[in-house]
Amino acid sequence: MIQFILNNKLIKTEKKASSILLDFIRYDQHLKGTKSGCREGDCGACTVLVGTLENGIVNYKSMASCLTPLGNVAGKHVVTVEGINGKDLTPIQKALHEHSGTQCGFCTPGFVVSLTAHAMSKKENTNEAAKLSISGNICRCTGYKSIEKSVDDIVDDLKEKPKTASLNWMIEHNYLPKYFKDISKRLSEIKTEKQKGKKIIGGGTDLYVQNPDETSDTEASFYLNKNEYKEISENNEIITVGASVTANEIMYSKIFNKHFPKIKDWFKLISSEQIRNVGTVAGNFVNASPIGDLTIFFLALNAELNLKNSKGKVRKIALKNFYKGYKTIDLQKDEIIESLNFNIPKSNFKFNFEKVSKRTFLDIATVNTALSYTLAKNVIEDIHISGGGLAAIPKYFDKTRNFLKGKELNMSNLNDASEILISEVSPISDIRGSKEYKSLLLKQLFFAHFEI
Ligand SMILES: Cc1cc2nc3c(=O)[nH]c(=O)nc-3n(C[C@H](O)[C@H](O)[C@H](O)COP(=O)(O)OP(=O)(O)OC[C@H]3O[C@@H](n4cnc5c(N)ncnc54)[C@H](O)[C@@H]3O)c2cc1C
Ligand code: FES
Ligand code: FES
Repeated sequence: MIQFILNNKLIKTEKKASSILLDFIRYDQHLKGTKSGCREGDCGACTVLVGTLENGIVNYKSMASCLTPLGNVAGKHVVTVEGINGKDLTPIQKALHEHSGTQCGFCTPGFVVSLTAHAMSKKENTNEAAKLSISGNICRCTGYKSIEKSVDDIVDDLKEKPKTASLNWMIEHNYLPKYFKDISKRLSEIKTEKQKGKKIIGGGTDLYVQNPDETSDTEASFYLNKNEYKEISENNEIITVGASVTANEIMYSKIFNKHFPKIKDWFKLISSEQIRNVGTVAGNFVNASPIGDLTIFFLALNAELNLKNSKGKVRKIALKNFYKGYKTIDLQKDEIIESLNFNIPKSNFKFNFEKVSKRTFLDIATVNTALSYTLAKNVIEDIHISGGGLAAIPKYFDKTRNFLKGKELNMSNLNDASEILISEVSPISDIRGSKEYKSLLLKQLFFAHFEI
């Protein structure tokens, strides 16, 4: 049995843990405010809040319920737009109404829920942060200007929110109904049962897009919330990232922000807030997309994977050796990814990530690439280069590395290296660009890496 709180109601259900939350909300609970749009995580019409009890406090994140299995919300608080509604409009609903930020209304519940996630978040209350919270919400009617004006009002109003006891303030100021006060106590009383199955589901953002029917009918184990795979730590010159760490957990991690001050600029180009809140690193590696952004990022850090088998034995493999062919990986049937690790960047370390896609936000890459190197007296000590969208697998550029390692960093060497780089791949023309365009892009992005 799965138990969770949906708005103000305790749910106990015998439904399959892999079945889709959106369907449960709409067709079992008859809550029709949460809309079914694309069912692929692209439109945000199905956005819900999912609250997790952490050290006595419930932390809420927005998620696309169309890609969320019930197993990932066991023991949590799921909030739909009905669970936010009170007697009067909330300040977020008021702002959207006053600026005509809603027309046909299909997208509106999603926007309201995403902006409520921003209002509840401990992140900075800036216009940029508020807009990022709706990066996964699409509106076909308004042209967004009216929504942007609503966001300005909301950000202004939230400037009054105190840093502590903010839940009380949000209830007093009509952002949330009163029942939110008791949720942490009610969550602490819920017992969760372990779900066991052969199929591993992380965030589900790949599986439920590729095979929604099969996935929602499978016996699965749910990894998104497994504490043992959630670690981000730094010790003995090594940074370790658990398999179930999400893109947003990396983006806002203190460790990553310390070593990669531009990480927020890079990671905001990956999917959207709702997807980054659940999409895991292991899911990104195992789906083996040739343009997986997290894969390209960690390839250039020369990361190593720790694979654990059913007997608990750990096998180590370099990420660059994990990919054997198109969607073929070196992972045995009884193995899972436990974690990844890479060396802590030194003071003479440089790193850059570039992603070019047809649309800046919420789009997959035409070409993405990352590069790390260490420099001593203008000589490249070591270098790692990766690129996506250029081959059947996420590409690690061995030959270019061998050429540049130990060479002086100058234009002549970089020009020669760029020729080796493009000779290492043979991109194909597709909807995202011609093979000539992709090669040219790779070359330009290679030079851009050195302009940091
Ligand atoms: C709207 C949308 C936009 C997207 N945009 C981007 C983007 O910009 N860039 C990008 O790179 N990706 C993007 N993606 C793809 C996807 O979100 C990411 O690849 C994500 O990291 C997948 O992780 P997940 O946990 O959701 O994977 P899941 O769907 O849960 O799993 C994917 C695969 O990994 C396996 N798996 C999961 N955990 C483990 C483990 N610990 N050990 C072994 N196997 C495991 C699963 O069994 C499955 O085969 C997007 C997806 C959507 C829906
Ligand atoms: S229905 Fe479009 S994101 Fe879920
Ligand atoms: S108001 Fe119609 S889709 Fe946004």
